[in-house]
Amino acid sequence: MQNALLEFLKSRRSSKVTSLSEPAPNAEQLAEILTIAARVPDHGKYHPWYFIVFEGDARAEVGAHLRTAYAAENPDTAPAKLDLEGERFLRAPMVIAVVSRIREGKNSEWEQILSAGAACYNLCLAANAMGYGTNWLTEWYAYSPTFKNLMGLDEQDRFAGFIYIGTASEKQEDRERPDLTKIVTHWSEKSPVLNKGEGYGQVGKGFPAKGF
Ligand SMILES: Cc1cc2nc3c(=O)[nH]c(=O)nc-3n(C[C@H](O)[C@H](O)[C@H](O)COP(=O)(O)O)c2cc1C
Repeated sequence: MQNALLEFLKSRRSSKVTSLSEPAPNAEQLAEILTIAARVPDHGKYHPWYFIVFEGDARAEVGAHLRTAYAAENPDTAPAKLDLEGERFLRAPMVIAVVSRIREGKNSEWEQILSAGAACYNLCLAANAMGYGTNWLTEWYAYSPTFKNLMGLDEQDRFAGFIYIGTASEKQEDRERPDLTKIVTHWSEKSPVLNKGEGYGQVGKGFPAKGF
């Protein structure tokens, strides 16, 4: 018998943000999605993440902050472009920001950030399992100090992602997946770590990564 969960995981795929429309998850489904998003490995039990839900009018309201932030960081931008930036959250009926919030303690910042990534992915999987399409985006506003400030976030907070959720009008074609022989090493003393995914992008350029 085929394992349905394995089939789901093998075939899951993000949806284009432009393909997401109503309906979004209802209140009960949203609570279930967030419960699952909060059920991720978390070294130290710090719960080093939290969620901000944008739905209904809130998606347009936050547009004022997006607009202000874009204008502040990109002087001389034409008003039409600012309008467009202000409409980003209107692309889907629901957007959930996952924010990594670093707690004081013996477990590292890195591990806390990884846990926030896991929360983003669990959130997507939970919504996908209910039949909704998702797209995990950061775009410029995840890294905008002005937007972060306008949203009342502080230096312990980082946007791990904005998960756009809705009903997908189309399924995206699959994309190429990595060749396991390039990224997996069965280590032994005689066999060093050789398969580091060479060829999948240049290493060492641009680090530390932006926003890190
Ligand atoms: C942390 C993170 C940030 C991302 N930000 C963007 C973004 O700003 N713009 C974009 O086009 N894709 C972004 N992506 C990629 C999309 O989520 C993309 O749909 C996804 O990688 C497709 O993967 P899948 O085919 O496995 O679903 C981001 C992915 C991650 C993990």
